[in-house]
Amino acid sequence: MDKLNHWRLLLAFRQMIKRKAARAAACRLWAFDLRSKHLRAFSEEESKPSNKRSTENSLLIGLDTEPPQGPALARFRIEQGAYAVLCDQARLGPEALELWKRYLPLLFFPLQAVQKKRALVFSHFAQSLDGCVATHSGDSKWIGDRENLIHAHRLRALCDAVLVGHGTVKTDAPRLTVRHVEGPQPLRLWLCGNIPSAFKPEENLHVLCPQNQQNEKTPTKNFVFFEPDKKGYVPPLSILQWLYDKGHYALLLEGGQRTASSFLQTNLIDILQLYIAPLIIGEGLSAFALPKFEKLQQAPRFSTYTFEQIGEGIMFTARGNEQSQV
Ligand SMILES: NC(=O)c1ccc[n+]([C@@H]2O[C@H](COP(=O)([O-])OP(=O)(O)OC[C@H]3O[C@@H](n4cnc5c(N)ncnc54)[C@H](OP(=O)(O)O)[C@@H]3O)[C@@H](O)[C@H]2O)c1
Repeated sequence: MDKLNHWRLLLAFRQMIKRKAARAAACRLWAFDLRSKHLRAFSEEESKPSNKRSTENSLLIGLDTEPPQGPALARFRIEQGAYAVLCDQARLGPEALELWKRYLPLLFFPLQAVQKKRALVFSHFAQSLDGCVATHSGDSKWIGDRENLIHAHRLRALCDAVLVGHGTVKTDAPRLTVRHVEGPQPLRLWLCGNIPSAFKPEENLHVLCPQNQQNEKTPTKNFVFFEPDKKGYVPPLSILQWLYDKGHYALLLEGGQRTASSFLQTNLIDILQLYIAPLIIGEGLSAFALPKFEKLQQAPRFSTYTFEQIGEGIMFTARGNEQSQV
């Protein structure tokens, strides 16, 4: 089976897990006859790797609360106390295995969302070696390479919604659609402290604003108003609860600096992924704007993370909720 078919299988699993998330405490899925992409969920007994249905052409994904034992091609730690195991007798090649390893954790977001009663956040953006996401004038196209761009579109396809801040809307006007890969279009969200002046309603696009911005002239369609916090900002948790209530379990947060920082500071980035490009910007816009720390101990430091080469850069991926508090 080629990489495209594995990608289609991942998308199909995502749909299946999302559909079952509200009812499942754990998730065991089985794909058999990969060529016809015939999928169904199996019972616990059926999905044991030792079961005789584990035939040549089968792929088993199980989610367990114990580190999985026995033969497996790959094991993934989903979060503290939850593991997924990919058992494959269908000779996954290295390319397909890489695809599964990279995207499998996102597939399980719906299950974690049901536990937390909020959408989960995957934040991905590109930065320079010296930690800048744009030049001083706001130019950021493109810090990442083509491989990272395709990866970003895969992330959009695997998430229910994608969010950027008003600053990014004004500077980059990103379309926030899936164009470079196959996959569903996410809900597109702009986070704005002030009603954007040049807003044209578009399909699938919502502007999220604090309640105090609402007046009789504000169009109600496409706008969602939230009770602001003491500083007048929309609390990130309110956005995630609103998404959850609408059945959207995975949010892709693409930036920019101030928006990503407000999620980081409220400890609401579940997976933080930074593409680090071989580039130095110098006096640019840093990835995060956090309070000034006197001591290094006060700075968020991640305990569970990986570095991997992707295209021309390095991908840093960390579990945001295992950092020390900001
Ligand atoms: N390298 C990358 O991958 C990447 C990705 C994305 C963006 N960028 C770059 O990042 C730069 C923009 O970053 P930025 O920090 O200036 O802007 P930003 O984070 O995109 O947007 C900041 C604005 O979003 C609104 N906002 C953020 N948090 C809010 C909250 N909790 N409640 C209400 N409103 C909130 C506010 O809008 P109001 O102004 O309406 O109050 C705020 O001024 C651009 O240069 C862009 O190119 C780079």
